[in-house]
Amino acid sequence: MIVAGNWKMNKTNQQAKLFANTLIQRLAGMKLRIVLCPPFVCLSDLAEVLRETNLCLGAQNCHYEKAGAFTGEISPVMLKEIGVEYVIVGHSERRHIFGETDEFINKKVKAILDNGMTPILCVGETKEEREKGLTFCVVESQLRQGLFGLTRDQIERIVIAYEPVWAIGTGIVAKPWQAQEVHGFIRKLLKALYDENLSKKVPILYGGSIKPDNFFGLMAQPDIDGGLVGGASLDEQFVELAKILSWFV
Ligand code: 13P
Repeated sequence: MIVAGNWKMNKTNQQAKLFANTLIQRLAGMKLRIVLCPPFVCLSDLAEVLRETNLCLGAQNCHYEKAGAFTGEISPVMLKEIGVEYVIVGHSERRHIFGETDEFINKKVKAILDNGMTPILCVGETKEEREKGLTFCVVESQLRQGLFGLTRDQIERIVIAYEPVWAIGTGIVAKPWQAQEVHGFIRKLLKALYDENLSKKVPILYGGSIKPDNFFGLMAQPDIDGGLVGGASLDEQFVELAKILSWFV
């Protein structure tokens, strides 16, 4: 079970350190995988703050090259060196606002794995795609392309996040059965692409308008292994979410 907070473009470095220290105290001893994904400028300081705690550090994005003329980008080598363990990749905001393609995302997934970190690969359909009945088709295509060329060993080190775009930041959370339907589909696809044993080893997180009052129902679903949280990861609600998830461990 994993709960990851995607802080997106929120919190300055000072605010991040303050909040991380609060979380360390409030979440101490919890037997969960708890991941904080702050903005890039906070990563270095948070790596120090989180050292020898039960909280892990994640980045929200990276480039796939080691170094070079890519103004404004951050490489996986840089992230690894400061102690980043997880990297969110293919988030819908990266796909839709910054035009990232599945091919580009696949290169990043490989680079993250090559540098010994865990990609959290995000997939999910838009409202329009759902209404046209294309949900499974979109998710399958994003997964097939995102995971293209990965070895079995690499698949074992990946995390998938199903984040329906219509649920992100809208307050419209997927109903537990709706999320389970897609999570079950993803599990079956992994089984078809690899095998049953491997499909069970890949954590599949749900993301999109998670709040303490809707979290339990989602996490009680058989193929939901945790949450990727935006807005509710920025304050006290994150502690509540971790407590709820720890009932399932
Ligand atoms: P919200 O929880 O704010 O809907 O954001 C979800 C998300 O995009 C996490 O990556």
